[in-house]
Amino acid sequence: MDSLVAAIDQGTSSTRFLVFNAKTTKLISQHKVEIKQSFPKEGWVEEDPKEIMQSVYECIERTCEKLRQLNINISNIKAVGVTNQRETTLVWDKETGEPLYSAIVWLDLRTQSTVESLINKAPSQNKNHLKHKTGLPISTYFSAVKLRWLLDNVDKVRQAVASERAMFGTVDSWLIWCLTGGSNGGVHCTDVTNASRTMLFNINTMEWDPELCRYFDVPMKILPEVRSSSEIYGWMKSSSLAGVPISGCLGDQSAALVGQMCFKEGQAKNTYGTGCFLLRNTGTKPVMSEHGLLTTVAYKLGKTQPTCYALEGSVAIAGAVVRWLKDNMGIVQSSAEIEKMAAAVGTSYGCYFVPAFSGLYAPYWEPSARGIICGLTQFTNRNHLAFAALEAVCFQTREILDAMNQDSGVPLTQLQVDGGMTSNRLLMQLQADILCIPVVQPTMSETTALGAAMAAGAAEGVDVWSLSPSHLPHVTSEKYEPQINLKESEFRFARWKKAVQKAMNWET
Ligand code: G3P
Repeated sequence: MDSLVAAIDQGTSSTRFLVFNAKTTKLISQHKVEIKQSFPKEGWVEEDPKEIMQSVYECIERTCEKLRQLNINISNIKAVGVTNQRETTLVWDKETGEPLYSAIVWLDLRTQSTVESLINKAPSQNKNHLKHKTGLPISTYFSAVKLRWLLDNVDKVRQAVASERAMFGTVDSWLIWCLTGGSNGGVHCTDVTNASRTMLFNINTMEWDPELCRYFDVPMKILPEVRSSSEIYGWMKSSSLAGVPISGCLGDQSAALVGQMCFKEGQAKNTYGTGCFLLRNTGTKPVMSEHGLLTTVAYKLGKTQPTCYALEGSVAIAGAVVRWLKDNMGIVQSSAEIEKMAAAVGTSYGCYFVPAFSGLYAPYWEPSARGIICGLTQFTNRNHLAFAALEAVCFQTREILDAMNQDSGVPLTQLQVDGGMTSNRLLMQLQADILCIPVVQPTMSETTALGAAMAAGAAEGVDVWSLSPSHLPHVTSEKYEPQINLKESEFRFARWKKAVQKAMNWET
């Protein structure tokens, strides 16, 4: 039997565990569990760290059961990779193993005033003041400001820091620490891709940066050790996989870039999850954006391997708009239903929906923007609204693709896509129409998990997966060609941009 490699994919909306054949890259089995999100106050988004951890164990056990039913021996699983929602911030007690607060999710807006005061103390009140070191603007999105909020507002966190019991981490750190033994010798680490989303990590020196830590007044002793994205961090302590090495770790968007085999400079992918993230590989040098994009660490696949960087266009709300229509408005019964509803009308009938629920990310970085729906008439019905919601995902992608093309000077001629929403064929066609370039979707859509499994299987000491270009598999895909004319596409995009201006200035 060929070696198998597993991946934990801990996203904002769900956790999955997936097992791949290391030789053929075929997906063998998987299990998925939804994750609850709570919204305790307007703009706040939290998740329960223990529920996140439990969901991982549940997915592992259920997948192992499925493998046994297929008569596959789970001892063929040679390594586990971790990929995760990025920036989401946790602090826990290293002696009790107890989380000291909920996980503050990347979408959370509670730090808006913290961000304002941090920008105010920057010279010329420039939100890009730390960009030369971090690649990021000062924003509610990144972990440092969430950690600052925890230190300012949660007694338990302050006390644990004072008594040297606090550990900070993004979701990858929390999972790896728990899976390798927790308070009983767990490994406190993160990888370079996740570290690059904290705003405490210098993407030039590839180390935690004392000056950045001083800027956010964060104690360096609570930070995890930063490792490459592909090496053995530790071994699973419990579950059916006890003894298996954990040897891959990447933030989910980096993992998708790897899973889409975007190893060459200029290659790009767009992942449609809770949010939507377009990453373009820029090679071994960080490139700073002039058009509102982030510079981020793409991957470092081994201790001695070079660091690769990416330009990233981040959109906060993509799949989350469908969940909002379902959970908050009750307009849609299931995520699958939205495609049928939108297809029933085939147009928004002039209705534009800007889902700026967490402000607007790239290219605007405007935390005070709020969602709006405009262009309503008595004719508008819920199907038009469903169409407008899907169109919003496509327009937002168009905005970040335009910024990316302007930054690189070399326009993308097609867009590689992946993520849960890509099963929506109407959305993919709309995307091609709005971008006016083909959209290419791999047949195997679990590219995020695949990337983490590749990193884990290729790690030194595991060595069951080859990343050499001659061994990379041929990826089969489906292509969506643009079907509307440029004039029509530009007209709709211009209207969208007007709606965005209203979302940004809704109070005036
Ligand atoms: O930066 C946030 C991102 O990593 C979340 O990804 O897949 O949960 O939308 P996803």
